[in-house]
Amino acid sequence: MALWGGRFSQEADQRFKQFNDSLRFDFRLAQQDIFGSVAWSKALVTVGVLSQDEQAQLEQALNELSEEVTANPQSILQSDAEDIHSWVESKLIAKVGDLGKKLHTGRSRNDQVATDLKLWCKEEVIHLRQAIVELQKALVITAEQNQNSVMPGYTHLQRAQPVTFAHWCLAYNEMLARDESRLADALKRLDISPLGCGALAGTAYDIDREQLAGWLGFASATNNSLDSVSDRDHVLELLSSAAIGMVHLSRFAEDLIFFNSGEAGFIELSDKVTSGSSLMPQKKNPDALELIRGKCGRVQGALTGMMMTLKGLPLAYNKDMQEDKEGLFDAIDTWSDCLHMATLVLDGLQIRRPRCEEAAKQGYANATELADYLVAKGVPFREAHHIVGEVVVCAIEQGKAIEELPLSELQMFNSKIMIDVYDILSLQSCLDKRLAKGGVSQKQVAYAIVKAKEVLNMDK
Ligand code: ARG
Repeated sequence: MALWGGRFSQEADQRFKQFNDSLRFDFRLAQQDIFGSVAWSKALVTVGVLSQDEQAQLEQALNELSEEVTANPQSILQSDAEDIHSWVESKLIAKVGDLGKKLHTGRSRNDQVATDLKLWCKEEVIHLRQAIVELQKALVITAEQNQNSVMPGYTHLQRAQPVTFAHWCLAYNEMLARDESRLADALKRLDISPLGCGALAGTAYDIDREQLAGWLGFASATNNSLDSVSDRDHVLELLSSAAIGMVHLSRFAEDLIFFNSGEAGFIELSDKVTSGSSLMPQKKNPDALELIRGKCGRVQGALTGMMMTLKGLPLAYNKDMQEDKEGLFDAIDTWSDCLHMATLVLDGLQIRRPRCEEAAKQGYANATELADYLVAKGVPFREAHHIVGEVVVCAIEQGKAIEELPLSELQMFNSKIMIDVYDILSLQSCLDKRLAKGGVSQKQVAYAIVKAKEVLNMDK
C-alpha cells in the first residue's frame, strides 16, 4: 500500500506507478534509511511522541531489518513498494504492528531522502579516497622502479624533451592527489544533516537537530529547511569530482595505450588486463585502458544531466530531484571501478627500456640543450633558437641526430661551439640539468618519490 492512500479514491495506473517508483534504484539506500530511522525514533522520545520502551522495540526491529538487508540486499527488489522509505516503513509495520506507524511523525520523505543520500555520499567518499590512494601508491612504486627509464616527453604528440617513466608516473600522482583533496573538501560541505527539516518548513516537534545530527555522525545540522530539502550540491560536487577524476584517468589510459602501441612500443601490458581478437591471432588489445577512457563519457554525462535537472527548479522539493540517484550511483561506481582497474594495469606493466631510450634519442629532443649551450657562450636565446633550428634542418637532411654531426660541421653554424658540446647533447645531461623544483633530473625525481611516500604513509 502506498504511504499516501487516504486522499485518493482511484488506484494509480500501473504504467504511472512504474514510471514514478524509485525502489529499483534507491534500494541501495536501505541501510542509510534504517540508520536514519533509528536516530529519528530516538528524537521522537525526546519530544514525548514515543516512550523509551516503544523506541527500544522500533530500534530492535530496525536492527533486525538491517541484518536481513545485509544478508540479501536484492530481496528488496521483489517488493512493489514505491521507494526505499515506503519499503522500510512497511517492513517495520509488518514486524511491530501499529507502533511502526508512529515512526513517521514529524518527518517527511523529503528530509529523509536528503539525509539518506548524504549518508550514502559520505561512505562513498571514504571508499573513493582509499581507491585513489591505492592507485597513487602503485604509481609511486612504479616510479621508484623506473627512475632510470628514459623516454621521450611530448608536446603536440611530437617528441619534445627526454623525461623518465618515473616522472610520468609522478605527474599522475599529482592529479590524483588533487582528486583526493577535492573529495576531502566536498566532504566538509556535505557533512551537515538535513534531518528534522520536514517536508520544507521544518518539523513541528521541538527536536534538538544538532543532537540528532550528532547521532547520525554528521558534523552539524543545516540552517534552513527550504534549502535542506532541495539542496543537491553534494550530488553535484561528487559528480564534478568524479568528472575531473575520470578525465585524469582517461588521459592516463590514453598515454598508456599510445605507449603500448606497435608504433611506440615503450611498454608491454600484462596479459591480466588485455584481450585478444576473435579474428586476428597476433593481437593483444588494451581493453582495460580503452574502457577507462571510454567510461569517462558517461560520468561527464551524469554531471551535465544533474546540472540540467536542477537548473530552474523552484524551491523546495520537486519530484525531478528523484533523478539525482541513478546518475550519481552509476558515476561513483564507474569512477571506483576505473580506479581499481588502473591500479591493476600498473601491476605487471613492463617498460621496454632500450626502445624508450632509443626513441628519446630520436626526434631532436636535445635541441633545446644546444640552444642553452649557445646561451652559456653569450649568444642571446632568440638567436640561439634560430641557429639550432638550422642545425636541425641540416641534421634531418642527412638523416642524423645532432650529436652525430662532426664538430667542424656544427662550427659552421656558430664558431663558439666546442668539443664539450657532445657531453651537453647526451640524454643524461638533458635530464641532469633539469634540477629546479618539479624538474625531471634524477635528483628531483628521487626527492619527489621520498615526499610522495611520506604523504602516502608508504614507509610504515
Ligand atoms: N523517492 C523520492 C526521491 O527519491 C523520495 C522523496 C519523495 N518525496 C515526495 N514528496 N514525493 O526523491
